[in-house]
Amino acid sequence: MAEKVYQCTVSAPVNIAVIKYWGKRDVGLNLPTNSSLSVTLSQDDLRTVTSASCSKSFEKDTLWLNGHAEDISASKRLSVCVEELRSVRRELEKENDSMDKISQLKVHVVSINNFPTAAGLASSAAGYAAFTEAIARLYDLTWTPTELSRIARQGSGSACRSLFGGYVSWEMGELHSGADSVAVQVEPVEHWPEMRVAIMVASAAKKGISSTSGMQATVASSTLFQERIKNIVPGRMQAMKQAIRNRDFETFAKLTMTDSNQFHACCLDTLPPIFYLNDTSRAIIRVIENINAAAGKTVAAYTFDAGPNAVVYFLEENSSYILDALHAVSKHAEGWEESARNPTSVKIDDVASETVSSGVSRVILTKIGDGPRILSPEESLIKEDGTPK
Ligand code: DP6
Repeated sequence: MAEKVYQCTVSAPVNIAVIKYWGKRDVGLNLPTNSSLSVTLSQDDLRTVTSASCSKSFEKDTLWLNGHAEDISASKRLSVCVEELRSVRRELEKENDSMDKISQLKVHVVSINNFPTAAGLASSAAGYAAFTEAIARLYDLTWTPTELSRIARQGSGSACRSLFGGYVSWEMGELHSGADSVAVQVEPVEHWPEMRVAIMVASAAKKGISSTSGMQATVASSTLFQERIKNIVPGRMQAMKQAIRNRDFETFAKLTMTDSNQFHACCLDTLPPIFYLNDTSRAIIRVIENINAAAGKTVAAYTFDAGPNAVVYFLEENSSYILDALHAVSKHAEGWEESARNPTSVKIDDVASETVSSGVSRVILTKIGDGPRILSPEESLIKEDGTPK
C-alpha cells in the first residue's frame, strides 16, 4: 500500500518596505542593524503559493521552486527554517502520544511565484514566508505570526514582514539570540485600506548584486550608513507609525521617498559603490515629482529596493489622476490593457517621459492586502504520490 502523504498549501504576499532594512548585525541569524516597516501587497496580484508535504516514502528534503528541484539540506537558509519547525513539532509529539510522528519524515515542498523571481520584486520575502507558513501548518503548529516571523527571518530578513497583512514593522531587537527580532502588525489593512500601488518594472532580469552581499559591503564601508542606523531610522520608524495611525498620506509619502533615497545614498557610499537605480528609475522619480508639483501636494510616493523597479504608493481617491499620468509615460508597457485611461493634465518633463517610455516594460497595479492564506486541497501543487503536479 502507498504510504500516506500529509500535506498543506498556503499562499503568502509580497511586502514593500517604506523604511528599509539594509544591514545585518549578525549574518548567521539574520539580525538587522535597524528596524524596518513595510506595506503588504494584495495576493490577488502578487503571491507565492507553496505546498508542503511529508511521507515515509520521501528520501530527502526537497524544494521545487518554479519547477526546479533543489536539495533543502544544501541550502543553509532553507534547512534552518525546516529544522527549527521540525524541532518544534518533535517537542509536541513527545508531549502528545496521539500525534502522528511526522517530524521524522522527509519533506517535499513545491513553490510557485506568479511574478518574476529576483526582479527586485521581493520574491524572497513572499517565498520564505510561504515556505515557513506551509511547513508550520503541515505540522499543525499554533504559533502566532510574530513567533513564526523569527523563523522566516532566518530564511530572508524581509520575509518576516510577509507573515502579516496591512502595515508591518520588523523590530530589530537587542538580544544576541535574535529572540526579540520579530515582525509585528502596526495596523491591519482595514485601518487604511485605500492604499494603492503601481509597480513600474524597469527590468525583469535577475539583479546584479544580491541584497545579502550588498548590505554586507555597506555595513563594512559606508560612514553615511552609520549615521542612518544610529541617528535617523529610530526617529523615522516612530514618525512612520504615527503617519500610518493618523492616515496622514503626505507624511507617509515624504518619509517613504526620503528613506528610499537614503538607502540608495548608502549604496552609493559603499566601496565599491552599488548602483541599483538606473536611468529609468531616476526618470520615474522625476515623473512623480511632476505629478506632486502639479497637484500642489504630495499625492504619490516612490520607493526602490535592490533593483531599478519603482513601487509607487498613492491613495484610491487620487487613483485616476496618478494612473493617467503614469500611463502617459508608459503607454506601451504590459499591464495597462484592463484599464481605460484618459489624457493626463500633468506637465511631464520630456526627457523623463521618453526615458520612462522606453525603459518600463510592465506595470502591475495592485493595493494593500492581507497576510498568508491557507488554500484548499484542490489548490495543492503536489500530487497524491508527493511529486509536483
Ligand atoms: C532592499 O530580505 O532580501 O528589499 O535578509 O539577506 O535575505 P536577506 O535580504 P533581503 O533584503 C531586502 C532589502 C530591501 C529592503 C527591505 O525589504 O526592507
